[in-house]
Amino acid sequence: TRVAVLISGTGSNMAALIDASQAADSGYEVALVLSNIEGAGGLAIAAAKGVQTVAVPHKLFGKDREAHERAVDAALRAVGVEVVALAGYMRILTPWLVRAWEGRMLNIHPSLLPLYPGLDTHARAIAAGDAEAGCTVHLVTEGVDEGPILGQARVPIVDGDTTASLAERVKTAEHRLYPQVLGDFCKGLARG
Ligand code: GRF
Repeated sequence: TRVAVLISGTGSNMAALIDASQAADSGYEVALVLSNIEGAGGLAIAAAKGVQTVAVPHKLFGKDREAHERAVDAALRAVGVEVVALAGYMRILTPWLVRAWEGRMLNIHPSLLPLYPGLDTHARAIAAGDAEAGCTVHLVTEGVDEGPILGQARVPIVDGDTTASLAERVKTAEHRLYPQVLGDFCKGLARG
């Protein structure tokens, strides 16, 4: 299955997805890494791993969100992408793009959804006194961080945790969870 990974920044999940895709039975290949930010750190990392990259800067499209997304969609279709994996892609999608990829677009979110949709998830979990945190891979629907859950991983919150220390623990879990869930999802698609 040909997958595109969409990023805005560092792309550590993207890197984990590419690395895991190289295992014989991964179930997917990363055909494209796309960013809305020209010069996003992750683009160079992907290129160094031999993966095709493209920047489609939203800034070029001013306030016309759909025009930007039509350009994103065209870039995906041009390389025969079948499944889209959002990985730190910091844009809220319009209903048009969500519908265009309905059932074939995944996202990873750094909380145990339905807890803490949106930003600052780790600070909120610590402030609430939660005993554990984690991450969720879900299908993308029009409601932000609301789609059907495909998989979750849990980590403990320990005494003295800061948002940084918790974020690091959750990221490690993300890097294991996302390739696993994406691989299973793509194998399921391939089986029909
Ligand atoms: C991750 O925590 C992911 O859950 C969230 O954005 C972050 C992206 O990090 N959606 P990275 O760019 O993959 O390192």
